[in-house]
Amino acid sequence: MSKTAFQSIRGMRDLLGEDARGFEYLKSVVRNVLQSYGYQAFHPPILESTSLFSRAVGEGTDVVEKEMFTFDDFGDSLTMRPEGTAGMVRAAIDNGMTFGTHKLWTEGPMFRREKPQKGRYRQFHQFSVETLGISEPEADVEHILICAELWQKLGISDAVKLKINTLATPEVRETYRNALVEYLQTHYDSLDDDSKRRLDKNPLRILDSKNPQMAELIANAPKLNDFLDDISIQHFQRVLACLDMAGVEYEIEPTLVRGLDYYTHTVYEWVTDKLGSQGTICGGGRYDGLAEHMGGKETAGVGFGLGIDRTLLLMQELGTVADAQQVLAYFIVMGESAKRQGLILAQQLRQESNGKPVLVHLQDSKMKVQIKKADQSGAKYAVIIGDEELENKTASVKELATGEQKMINFSELASLLC
Ligand code: HAM
Repeated sequence: MSKTAFQSIRGMRDLLGEDARGFEYLKSVVRNVLQSYGYQAFHPPILESTSLFSRAVGEGTDVVEKEMFTFDDFGDSLTMRPEGTAGMVRAAIDNGMTFGTHKLWTEGPMFRREKPQKGRYRQFHQFSVETLGISEPEADVEHILICAELWQKLGISDAVKLKINTLATPEVRETYRNALVEYLQTHYDSLDDDSKRRLDKNPLRILDSKNPQMAELIANAPKLNDFLDDISIQHFQRVLACLDMAGVEYEIEPTLVRGLDYYTHTVYEWVTDKLGSQGTICGGGRYDGLAEHMGGKETAGVGFGLGIDRTLLLMQELGTVADAQQVLAYFIVMGESAKRQGLILAQQLRQESNGKPVLVHLQDSKMKVQIKKADQSGAKYAVIIGDEELENKTASVKELATGEQKMINFSELASLLC
């Protein structure tokens, strides 16, 4: 590959070839499933005020503290969205959608200044799926069922597991937070630097530490489970009962806290052991207080973010990306008039075949070159048009796999090949 003076920014990839095709395949499967559940497209912009993310995602989170791409726009601080929920909720408030119920999705690039590695990028892609206005636990389950159906359709269900936990109500979490901080303070000298830093701002995240030296300390820490009130227990039990009935397997993970501050009650992640350390392909949960916290009306919320890059990596690892649709026909056209005729006939073929790929050789090339291109395209048929064919209004059609060749009248081409 030749190096140019310009290269893509670290952690931001050019998507092309099989990756780009895989992206589009995955996205079309997800869109169809979301449509079948009645979810509507809803696309807020990529740029938002920095304060939106500080407020919604939380000052003490890694995302806000060190990962946002932020810049000054003539006195306004703007940020490239690091996730989708804050923008969706902001847009819902702005568009008067904190009344009634709304099932929404958006999709596109998100930006976090993380250390790039396989499966972790600075520009990555997510589906962000959100339900607003429904506080019942069954809304949490609907999202999990959507995910389970997606994994099935994408061919990865055997490779992913659901980990789930409850973060209870904000009141319960506050009481628990105090107990946790007290415990951690008595063991301050055993905390690693990261945990010492998090102790004030985000102590629950310490439970998420992957440092083996912290494992025992975390194992002996007070458990949120022991602090749950009736509301939190009932919500979680209704979620689990519904999952049991739907036959969705899960593992309760008491230390799962997620990295964003807005969660209440249910939180979950779908993880795989096939992608090394970047094994979480999807994560979500409930965020009932968020709209109010952002200055809107009290609105229940629940959602998930599906990491497109990682999900595709897993599909590629397992070989479950569907094959590209076969090209129906490649038009080999000798001369300007034949080319014009080819363009028109190709259009008819596409229409008749419900949009199957049909290609026309547009450059002025020798027959040999055009035949080679037709072979390379993997087309089922090569449709050859030269002076004689134009004169007789018939095309010479070759089935490329068998070499069988026949003459077909232009007017019958679409009906015979499609
Ligand atoms: P999140 O867990 O931060 O949640 O991200 C969701 C998914 O995005 C992750 O599970 C992962 O697959 C993917 N992801 C995150 N960061 C990266 C990265 N640097 N490179 C590649 N993939 C990445 C959220 O963003 C929440 N907004 C989800 C949500 C929606 N919760 C409620 N509603």
